[in-house]
Amino acid sequence: MKYSRTTLVLLLFFVVISESSSALANPETFTQCLTSNSDPKHPISPAVYFAGNGSYSSVLEATIRNLRFNTSNTPKPFLIIAATHETHVQAAVTCGKRHNLQMKIRSGGHDYDGLSYVTYSGKPFFVLDMFNLRSVDVDTASKTAWVQTGAILGEVYYYIWEKSKTLAYPAGVCLTVGVGGHISGGGYGNMMRKYGLAVDNTIDARMVVDVNGKILDRKLMGEDLFWAINGGGGGSYGVVLAYKINLVEVPENVTVFRISRTLEQNVTEIVHRWQQVAPELPDELYIRTIIDVVNGTVSSQKTVRATFIAMFLGDTTTLLSILNWRFPELGLVRSDCTETSWIQSALFWINIQVGSSEKLLLQRIQPVNYLKRKSDYVREPISRTGLESIWKKMIELEIPTMTFSPYGGAMWRISSTATPFPYRAGNLWKIQYAANWREDRLTDRYIELTRELYRFMTPFVSKNPRQSFFNYRDVDLGINSHNGKINSYIEGKHYGKKYFARNFEREKTNEERESASPFLLPLSLLSPIYSSTISAVMAEPSPSSSPQCPPPPPKPYLTSIAPPLPP
Ligand SMILES: Cc1cc2nc3c(=O)[nH]c(=O)nc-3n(C[C@H](O)[C@H](O)[C@H](O)COP(=O)(O)OP(=O)(O)OC[C@H]3O[C@@H](n4cnc5c(N)ncnc54)[C@H](O)[C@@H]3O)c2cc1C
Ligand SMILES: *[C@@H]1O[C@H](CO)[C@@H](O)[C@H](O)[C@H]1NC(C)=O
Ligand SMILES: *[C@@H]1O[C@H](CO)[C@@H](O)[C@H](O)[C@H]1NC(C)=O
Ligand SMILES: *[C@@H]1O[C@H](CO)[C@@H](O)[C@H](O)[C@H]1NC(C)=O
Ligand SMILES: *[C@@H]1O[C@H](CO)[C@@H](O)[C@H](O)[C@H]1NC(C)=O
Ligand SMILES: *[C@@H]1O[C@H](CO)[C@@H](O)[C@H](O)[C@H]1NC(C)=O
Repeated sequence: MKYSRTTLVLLLFFVVISESSSALANPETFTQCLTSNSDPKHPISPAVYFAGNGSYSSVLEATIRNLRFNTSNTPKPFLIIAATHETHVQAAVTCGKRHNLQMKIRSGGHDYDGLSYVTYSGKPFFVLDMFNLRSVDVDTASKTAWVQTGAILGEVYYYIWEKSKTLAYPAGVCLTVGVGGHISGGGYGNMMRKYGLAVDNTIDARMVVDVNGKILDRKLMGEDLFWAINGGGGGSYGVVLAYKINLVEVPENVTVFRISRTLEQNVTEIVHRWQQVAPELPDELYIRTIIDVVNGTVSSQKTVRATFIAMFLGDTTTLLSILNWRFPELGLVRSDCTETSWIQSALFWINIQVGSSEKLLLQRIQPVNYLKRKSDYVREPISRTGLESIWKKMIELEIPTMTFSPYGGAMWRISSTATPFPYRAGNLWKIQYAANWREDRLTDRYIELTRELYRFMTPFVSKNPRQSFFNYRDVDLGINSHNGKINSYIEGKHYGKKYFARNFEREKTNEERESASPFLLPLSLLSPIYSSTISAVMAEPSPSSSPQCPPPPPKPYLTSIAPPLPP
């Protein structure tokens, strides 16, 4: 029997908060529950950090990636379960439900609005932290791997590379992003035009869904639930323990480049042309462009700079011949290009010098900023006049940057209902708005500048609804006040459609919900402890900024390649 897709709606937005608020009356009881519900062979108590514990702060802060959520006002979990065994996850789910507590699931902690470790419900909550569960088992014969959700992308890439130099996984470029949130939110990277998204290459999963802490694989959970956890948003359906992924083939060497052009160097013409070309280039070639504002040659004048960063699954000669024919305006020359292994290209993409140790992929530490992100989809090329007006606005605002990621290739060939991620054919490119800062006092202003650029872009981007990328979480789109079932649904629908377009409604109209599997009931009962990922409730002014990953191109560019790993 099938698990109804209704669950997407049910679990994302029908967050049922019980009236009882006495959950925390006796923390011991919760701990005892954890102990008695876990296997004595794998004791859970060493994995539990209460707020008073000396290691609590370092565990909590270890994967906070946005300093806006590292303040004394940020609501804190009363405990963290840093699970070291699957049974700990089962116990967390079972006891969280039994004690009517809200549970936050955290893998890499990269949620832009901190929803994996913050809730504003005012109720006691705890964090189930997955970072200890991070094995990556690669099978080169079947070209697949089982990856636990606490792994970071750098670990996934590294362990694949250890076994094969010509296999890879098409996921995000920021190496510290966690598998758990990344795949559940639709993750993309610089091979998406060739191989699609991370979720287009997921073939199985293991997850804990029901109150009994039962572990299900794809076969047991059914195709509908599998569909939902493969891009329908993390934290809503249960705890994903591991995904089984398909590995993809990459050549022994790939070619990368990063070049910048300013207003004085015809940036308008080049970006205008990029819009037409980038989504139509061969699938093997992905050229992203980051637009920012820098000092002009006369240092009192600002200029707009576009930095083009490319990944080509092929050699330099072929790349040059493609671009000199299709995109001569860019003016790419051989000396701009670096031919290197795929694994080294992963370092290049985060501004680490090619030739550095591959071990850097395993680094979990990275500099942390305050940050805000928003996103958009562009479906029609923007005119030269339009681009010029955008540059003018950017120079006025100075702070927020935009990253344009071209679609096309596999992204257009895969059906928009194949996974919950809806933005396939018809979308030319995606915009990420970004602001990063280092001082708390700038927060309100920088968030507002980011919102202002977003408002300015309204005429140029998708409409009705204006679309956003779920993994670029943005609570400005709407929050869920958890105010009863109906409201939660209506509130959820409002922003759920912006993230999932028609794939959101589709859940609701699915007739299968009438004949849902037995899991549906326990699931909906369980939902109180899952704080819906997009319902975490925080209309707080939150500034944004964080390390852009890859970091914003240094200014001036090539003289300051990032040191081999951020402090
Ligand atoms: C610096 C930076 C660079 C980024 N670059 C890219 C990029 O190149 N491509 C891209 O697609 N995205 C990118 N992102 C966005 C990123 O993919 C999402 O933020 C993603 O959700 C992060 O996953 P995480 O496990 O690190 O996050 P977390 O904050 O741990 O989790 C995010 C959400 O998923 C839920 N969740 C986490 N683990 C599980 C689990 N095991 N089971 C169920 N639910 C879970 C959480 O509760 C939360 O709601 C980037 C983000 C940052 C901060
Ligand atoms: C803190 O918690 C850890 C994990 O449960 C435990 O090993 C340690 O003894 C605790 N420390 C103190 C001081 O309570
Ligand atoms: C987060 O806040 C704590 C407590 O104020 C502080 O010690 C820590 O350095 C902060 N983390 C970062 C990365 O700034
Ligand atoms: C890949 O690059 C390395 C180092 O530059 C070189 O030795 C090797 O021959 C290249 N392989 C191919 C297939 O071009
Ligand atoms: C800018 O474009 C014009 C016309 O296409 C061209 O003549 C000029 O050389 C270009 N300038 C630069 C700096 O590339
Ligand atoms: C840009 O110019 C301003 C003065 O207009 C100066 O303060 C700043 O340091 C310059 N930035 C860089 C990166 O040179």
